[in-house]
Parts: sequence; C-alpha cells; structure tokens
Amino acid sequence: MNGKKLYIETYGCQMNEYDSDRIRNALSFELTDNPADADVIIVNTCAIREKADQKAFSSLGRFKHLKAKRPDVIIGIAGCVAQLYGDKIIEKMPYVDLVIGPRAIPKLPKLITEIQSDQRKKIETSFDVEEVFEIEPYHEEGKVTAFVSIQQGCNKMCTYCIVPHVRGKEINRPLEDILQEIRRLVQKGVKEVTLIGQTVNSWKTDRYRFGDLLRIAAEIEGLLRIRFTTSYPRDVTRKMIDAMREVSKVCHHIHLPVQSGSNRVLARMKRTYTREWYIETVNRLRDAIPDIAISTDIIVGFPGETEEDFHDTMKLLEEVQFDSAFSFKFSPRPGTPAADFPDRVDDNTASRRLKELQEFQRKITLEKNMSRVGLVEEVLVEGRSKHNDGFLSGRTPHNRIVNFPGPQELIGKIVNVKITEGFQNSLRGELY
Ligand code: 5AD
Repeated sequence: MNGKKLYIETYGCQMNEYDSDRIRNALSFELTDNPADADVIIVNTCAIREKADQKAFSSLGRFKHLKAKRPDVIIGIAGCVAQLYGDKIIEKMPYVDLVIGPRAIPKLPKLITEIQSDQRKKIETSFDVEEVFEIEPYHEEGKVTAFVSIQQGCNKMCTYCIVPHVRGKEINRPLEDILQEIRRLVQKGVKEVTLIGQTVNSWKTDRYRFGDLLRIAAEIEGLLRIRFTTSYPRDVTRKMIDAMREVSKVCHHIHLPVQSGSNRVLARMKRTYTREWYIETVNRLRDAIPDIAISTDIIVGFPGETEEDFHDTMKLLEEVQFDSAFSFKFSPRPGTPAADFPDRVDDNTASRRLKELQEFQRKITLEKNMSRVGLVEEVLVEGRSKHNDGFLSGRTPHNRIVNFPGPQELIGKIVNVKITEGFQNSLRGELY
C-alpha cells in the first residue's frame, strides 16, 4: 500500500476526530490535503442533526467530477451518516465506492484492497465487529494533547438522539488497553489526555468504575493532566466526584449536558432526571470542588416545548451560571422516537428561542472569563497561537484558552500565567 495517498475530511465530535486518526493509521498512506492527488478519499461524517448530514452529502458531492476524471480513485464515506443510510448512499451517489460505519474501521484496509482488486463497491455497516478498539489513532509528532477512547456506543435512550442507532450499544474498553494507549502517548511526549466516550463517566468493567479509572490513569508517570468528556448527569457518582477532587492531575472541568430546564421536556426526552436533581448534582460538584467549571448542551424547540418550558430552561441557565453552553435547535432524526412526536415547534419560534438563549449565555460566559482577570492560572502550553505572532496558546484546568507572549520552549510545560484580559472565547495574559 506504500506510496498511496489519503485525503480525509472530518465532521462532528471528538469521537469522529479520533476515528479519523484511526483511519489514518489503519491505512498507513501518506496524508494529502489535496483531494486531486489522493488515491483514497474518505469523508468521515456526523449525523447528530440534519444540517450535519447535509454537510456530509455536499462534501461528497464535491468529489463526483474527480471520479469521472480518474475512475481508479476510491471514494469512501465513513462514520455516522454512512451507518445511518448504508446502501442508500450509493443509490443516490453512484460514484461512491465504500460505505463504512464507525464500528468497522479495523476492516478498512481489507475493504480497500478488495475494491482495488475486484472493482466492486463495499458496504460495511454491521455491528458485530469485535475488534472495535483494535486500531489506535495516528498521533502527530510534537502534539501535547490527545484523545483516548474508553467507550463505544451508548446505552441511554434519549428520544431525540441518533447516536445509539449509529454507534450501537455501549462497549467499554478494558482498563489495561486504555492504560497502554495512554502510556504510549506519554512516551511520545503527550502531557494531557482527554478520555472520550458518549457517556464517558458510565464507563465500567467487572471490577472498576469511572472514578477508579481516573485514579489509576493518574499514576502514569509523565502524564500531567486528565480530562474527560462527555459526562451523563445520572452517572455522576460520589466516587467520581471524590476522584476529581483528590487526584490533582484531573482537571476541574465537567461537560454535563442538561438539554432542558423543564421537567416536562426532560421527561419527554427520557433524560431520567429532573431539573431539581440536575441542580442538586451541580451543587454536589461545586461543594466538593469549589472552582469546578461546568459546561453544558441545550436543545431548544423540542416537540411540545411551550414558552413556559423554554422559560424554565432560561431560569436554569440563570441559576446554574454555566461557564459555557452549546445550544441547538431540535432536529428530527430518522428512526428516533422524537421524530414522530406531534406538536413540533415551528422553526421561527425555535430560532427566536435559540437566539435569546445564546445571547443570555454569552453574557454569562463573558462575565466569567472577565472575572479571571488578575488571577494566576496554570496553563498547559499546547503550541503557538494561531492568531498572534510571538504568542503561545494553552488551556487552564477549567478549559479556558489562554494566549500570552512567550518562547516556544515552553510548549508541553505547565506555566503560571497572570490573566490580563478576558474575552468571549479566550483569555489573554502574561507569564508570571
Ligand atoms: N437535535 C438537536 N440537537 C441534538 N443533539 C443531539 N441530538 C440532537 C437532535 N436530534 C445535541 C445534544 C447533544 C449534542 C451533542 O447535540 O445537545 O448533547
């Protein structure tokens, strides 16, 4: 396979970025950023909302003329859209050669070889691939941070969500595999890992729970920081909070999607908690770890959401004071229960609610960022700032980006930075 070139485009969440790096390693082709040069083109897709899967198709559409010019180029679609639509993609886009779901990445090299020899299209969307974690991702030399997948799929039953349909049931990666991957990354110079999983804190094995994993991973020498995402509220346990508080390598940040502040909507979403329970969980986290940063995800315009329900969400944002929030308009996904719920919220109303919510949260985020001015923060330096010559960029344990002037020898080190300015999406400071 040597001498071949791969062009890959990635949409969606951290899991997809991770999977793209696995695809890169699975094929061990040279990477190119010019599709016209590539022997294999892969679009790794996201299906979480309708817009995301439209993006996947328009991205694929761009390669149609390439296939006409060079019939030997292999065009593949990977990820959640591939899993969701399977052979329908090839019906619609006959120039596509390969459709491969997220669980089947280890089969990729074999499929590519087969296409090259028999010139037939391949569709691999079965879930019975046992070696889901077999291929570790490519790691760019010199990169200080890395994702480590600890879980595939999801066992929750949120009525709006496509993830269990396209990524399958939850499979938890064995402890020793996770530790081995982290150790290898640390040997390559990685200082911070982010453990990833759809409901990362639901991770468990016969003997261990997520809190144990945090403690055990923290023993790896040379590793400076541990993050994790995304957490499921109902699985925030005492054990997990204690580990976050007691293990100094674990960053004081949690991404804890609440989705709605209305109990009626939460019940229809099947989120399995109430707003009171969520707020109580936030309080437990803050009592144990007073400086913890909490971010969240919100869906507005869920079917049946009234003005009063929306108001409950706004009140929750005011009460909790999240450090940041990602918010989305509800998008019906094929095969999910909520796609068939009656009383859809009309698009104008949903847009108006989204705008109102985002404006409100932006203020809170900005205030929180500005409140850091004058404080000295511990920043893990990740690299040079993209926007400012002579500046370095890194993050605080609370996941705030900090830019400050400094020499590049500091990359990979944790340094003290005095914060001088707070912006919407970052902080500025100087070495302290
Ligand atoms: N419509 C809108 N947003 C959704 N999300 C998940 N499914 C949908 C959907 N059908 C949002 C949730 C989730 C985030 C990753 O995407 O807020 O936490």
